[in-house]
Amino acid sequence: MQGFLFDKPEQSTPSKGSASKSEELALLFDTAKTCSKCMLAGSRLNFVFGEGNPLAHLVVIGEAPGAEEDASGRPFVGRSGQLLDKILLAASFRREEVYICNILKCRPPGNRNPLNDEIANCMPWLLQQLRIIKPKVILMLGKVAANTILGNTLSLGTMRGKLIQWKGYDCFITYHPAALLRNPNWKKGCWEDIQVMMRHYATICDEEKLTEKRVNE
Ligand code: URA
Repeated sequence: MQGFLFDKPEQSTPSKGSASKSEELALLFDTAKTCSKCMLAGSRLNFVFGEGNPLAHLVVIGEAPGAEEDASGRPFVGRSGQLLDKILLAASFRREEVYICNILKCRPPGNRNPLNDEIANCMPWLLQQLRIIKPKVILMLGKVAANTILGNTLSLGTMRGKLIQWKGYDCFITYHPAALLRNPNWKKGCWEDIQVMMRHYATICDEEKLTEKRVNE
């Protein structure tokens, strides 16, 4: 993978002004972590809430924790996570700069696809995370995550690599890193998707900077 031809707009760091968002996320986590709304609560080792910068402009959403995530309580720390870190770095994001989470916060046995009742019970946590963070861009990883969030049955090919509006959020969809590990020849397409997303990200963050400048003039 290669770097970008343009400078990435500055992303807020958690040090300044993030107290209320991080406090709100911490409060939400406190409420959510004992969730027992579905049967996954009975088999989980950890509730994998999500992690990252509460002021992130970019939120990355996967499907559900796997074995390593369940064991550690952190999203995307296994092989898929290592590849995700590389993809983010290629797009000049450090992992700590963005916010990473999943649709399901508990591991489905054997990593099977999420069931409808699990999705229905877990989506409100994700929606509240997004309401607090208010990202400028959302990146969804894989067909299952995208179909689940968007409530459609479209193919990944139809959805990836373009701007999709969902609940007022600017969303992009690309391959799940686990799929890229199985099919390395899809990495080129993933990189193309990420570049489309980054161009959009740069545009909206530049516009925001211009507006701030005008307001301060
Ligand atoms: N796959 C996901 O969708 N999420 C994780 O956290 C890990 C693997």
